[in-house]
Amino acid sequence: MSQIAFLLNGDSVCLTNASPTRTLLDWLREDKGMTGTKEGCNEGDCGACTVMVSDETGVRAMNACILFLPQLNGKSVRTVEGLSGPDGELHPVQQAMVDHHGSQCGFCTPGFVMSMATAHLNGATDYDDQLAGNLCRCTGYAPIVQAAKTAASEPVPVWLSGAPDTPIAEPIESDTLALPRTADELAQWYEAHPDATLIGGATDVGLWVTKQLRDLGPVAFLNGVQDLKDTSVSDEDIHIGAGVTITDLGTLMSEHHPSFAEMIRRYGSTQVRNAATIGGNIANGSPIGDGPPALIALGATLYLRKGDRRRSLSLEDFFIDYGKQDREPGEFVEAISIPRQPDHLRCYKISKRFDQDISAVCGCFNIMIEHDQVTAVRIAFGGMAGIPKRASHVEAALIGQPWTAETIAAARPAFTKDFTPLSDMRASATYRLQSAQNLLDRFFAETEGTATNVLEVRA
Ligand SMILES: Cc1cc2nc3c(=O)[nH]c(=O)nc-3n(C[C@H](O)[C@H](O)[C@H](O)COP(=O)(O)OP(=O)(O)OC[C@H]3O[C@@H](n4cnc5c(N)ncnc54)[C@H](O)[C@@H]3O)c2cc1C
Ligand code: FES
Ligand code: FES
Repeated sequence: MSQIAFLLNGDSVCLTNASPTRTLLDWLREDKGMTGTKEGCNEGDCGACTVMVSDETGVRAMNACILFLPQLNGKSVRTVEGLSGPDGELHPVQQAMVDHHGSQCGFCTPGFVMSMATAHLNGATDYDDQLAGNLCRCTGYAPIVQAAKTAASEPVPVWLSGAPDTPIAEPIESDTLALPRTADELAQWYEAHPDATLIGGATDVGLWVTKQLRDLGPVAFLNGVQDLKDTSVSDEDIHIGAGVTITDLGTLMSEHHPSFAEMIRRYGSTQVRNAATIGGNIANGSPIGDGPPALIALGATLYLRKGDRRRSLSLEDFFIDYGKQDREPGEFVEAISIPRQPDHLRCYKISKRFDQDISAVCGCFNIMIEHDQVTAVRIAFGGMAGIPKRASHVEAALIGQPWTAETIAAARPAFTKDFTPLSDMRASATYRLQSAQNLLDRFFAETEGTATNVLEVRA
């Protein structure tokens, strides 16, 4: 019998045989009658459903609409119903929202206060980032951000301080559901159930259920697999487990490749980054994922595993064609590694909105210039083809050449040999091609000392 155990606002919950693809949001609202957590988009975009999820590694804001119940096994969940004190005393962020008139219709407010309370607990004060995943249609953000700033000086209320005693997460294994604790357990189960769907952070898979109403069949949840969350840094490489979240990847990259970390800051929202994993970002094979172009530009290696058999390949070779990757049934992404190297990487994300938007074009340039000459070059793009892809002809036009405006101009036509982009709702083919070429100009301008600012629009 499979039992999922977690804490809800401090009370133990034990669910037996709950549907593994029931979302926390539906369970709260429909089964528990707890309607404080709102449903706006049901696809991770608006933050109306934000809850606080804690375990021994920390406290995170997450979107309940794309969080399946098994992902909560062994964790503690706090909803807006559990944010004020036992005697009804408001949390400092709630009081500040009242004082600063931070709520008009109020629909977004439960989600906002949960994000704000999580930031308050973690001491995070970068409110533009912390609140980028929460949309408000009527109040406007200034009073909300002001409320968050005012509450920052207040202590964490006693009812929220101290780590919650989370229940022990027992491994679960049946023919339809697996919650493995180790990569070995996962490998064994998945080899025996190769048609199953693996679920990392469910920031893609969640939408297959909430938007496409798909029945996933057997599923395995990866978020309890501890060894897939490991990272290590040696003289040779940076090793990153497939289950490492995009939030944790951003922290790691800020030390080694800060431009990659800066792009990750614009990947989804805080809630999405707290759930999404790098393994899912690669395995989904998306041509517009933000992780693969940066990792390909860095020369990353991908590690795959099926049962006891492991193999590795260069990440760029994993992406064969649109919707087709070099992965067998029953085989999963175990890790990725980046060779240690001096940092020359610059990543540029072009999207319609600055925050919380999917890239139209994502260009990553890893170019070493020594004595004014290009001595090494790897360039990769997302959004320019059916797969994340290297710009081999552009690279060939640059290698060995003097680092001058003439070389850059001479390399521009090579983009048309590398890419025949599509027109879609995000951008036209012409826009994509021209943007990609312009990003090379931008990279050159930055290496020549010209500061560029993506928030500044010039005629
Ligand atoms: C609101 C929102 C904003 C987003 N913004 C961005 C963005 O800015 N940039 C971006 O790149 N993406 C974005 N995404 C897409 C998504 O977050 C990423 O693709 C994410 O990294 C997927 O990771 P996951 O762990 O959630 O994958 P899941 O949804 O759990 O899985 C995705 C796919 O990968 C498979 N899979 C997962 N882990 C493994 C593994 N270890 N081995 C083999 N297969 C595996 C699953 O079976 C599934 O096919 C956004 C999504 C949402 C909902
Ligand atoms: S309902 Fe919009 S993010 Fe969940
Ligand atoms: S107060 Fe109405 S959407 Fe924010």
